[in-house]
Amino acid sequence: MTVPIAIIGTGIAGLSAAQALHAAGHSVHLFDKSHGSGGRMSTKRSDAGALDMGAQYFTARDRRFVEVVQQWQAQGYVAEWTPQLYNYRYGQLSLSPDEQVRWVGNPRMSAITRAMRGDLPVTFSCRITEVFRGVQHWSLQDAEGVTHGPFSHVIIATPAPQATTLLAAAPKLAGVAAGVLMEPTWAVALAFDTPLETPMEGCFVQDNPLDWLARNRSKPGRASTPDTWVLHASSAWSKKHLDLPKEAVIEALHGAFAELLGCAMPAPAFTLAHRWLYARPATAHEWGTLSDSDLGVYVCGDWCLSGRVEGAWLSGQEAARRLLEHLD
Ligand code: FAD
Ligand code: NAI
Repeated sequence: MTVPIAIIGTGIAGLSAAQALHAAGHSVHLFDKSHGSGGRMSTKRSDAGALDMGAQYFTARDRRFVEVVQQWQAQGYVAEWTPQLYNYRYGQLSLSPDEQVRWVGNPRMSAITRAMRGDLPVTFSCRITEVFRGVQHWSLQDAEGVTHGPFSHVIIATPAPQATTLLAAAPKLAGVAAGVLMEPTWAVALAFDTPLETPMEGCFVQDNPLDWLARNRSKPGRASTPDTWVLHASSAWSKKHLDLPKEAVIEALHGAFAELLGCAMPAPAFTLAHRWLYARPATAHEWGTLSDSDLGVYVCGDWCLSGRVEGAWLSGQEAARRLLEHLD
């Protein structure tokens, strides 16, 4: 019997590692506490259509990631997004076009992680609470008290605070992960029956409760949805209002949006709020992955690199590479 490699987390980092290991002929088994894959690239299905509440778009700067994004594009689940971009600073709204190529999942962000997952074995709705080593192999315990295993190696592909609690068997790695601060983001979606009268499709915002806003239907593959907008609060505002009820968050960010557009805004026909507790690392790192190869434990995720989709994918590749290197 081949003993599989356990991967905790089916965000893009965990799936990137899983794909690389599977391609190298190893069997893997993934776990996620959510009912679906994608993590911060997941898409919320709602009465107003599919809403990308987390990652909005991504850029590709590293040659390896550029190549894989081109393959995803050829397969149809990634497309280029060319929004009419604005910038809002000191109460001034201005057009802010640039040459940057930006990518989105097609027809929703989660199409990417769904395709990466393919037929890989995953146990969903399974929150791992403990990772421990027996005489020869690793086992995982979940929140229901069920033990999973045996596994030859473990890859932890979760945000840093969640990784820290799973790293009791590797205290050095736990110490590094514990030092990574991850900041929250409140996300709100608003849908309007009558489209808002603005050419704006995306806006970078400074010195404001808001940090970013996007017109969902300007993204490829989303044309038929109503006029839905996704608003992201800044880290500072999100931290300050971490425990605000959702209705109050929606009201505050809706108000900030109306002020930014400088118009009387209709009441939205649909609203949704989501709090991302561990949205982004406070600073970027250059670790690639954290590993203890002798133990057989590897850690990856966006926080090991740039705190972006690209960084998360690269980190998963790096974890897989380190693991394979040690087997040689
Ligand atoms: P995640 O996607 O967080 O995956 C971790 C997975 O682990 C999750 O599915 C979680 O459920 C699971 N998990 C955690 N703990 C456990 C446990 N104990 N047991 C089992 N499963 C567990 N990036 C960009 O490049 N461009 C953007 O525009 C952009 N915008 C963003 C906007 C927001 C609001 C947020 C939140 C993020 C944004 N990002 C953006 C960042 C980007 O989404 C992340 O960098 C990337 O998706 C992280 O992937 P990951 O695999 O490292 O982690
Ligand atoms: P990018 O190159 O488009 O943006 C990087 C940053 O440059 C932007 O945040 C913005 O400040 C600035 N910028 C870029 N183009 C601009 C323009 N035309 N006008 C004005 N400012 C502009 O994309 P990159 O480097 O891939 O970054 C990803 C994006 O994801 C960033 O905007 C980042 O803030 C966002 N993000 C948000 C998270 C959250 O929790 N809200 C988490 C992680 C990333």
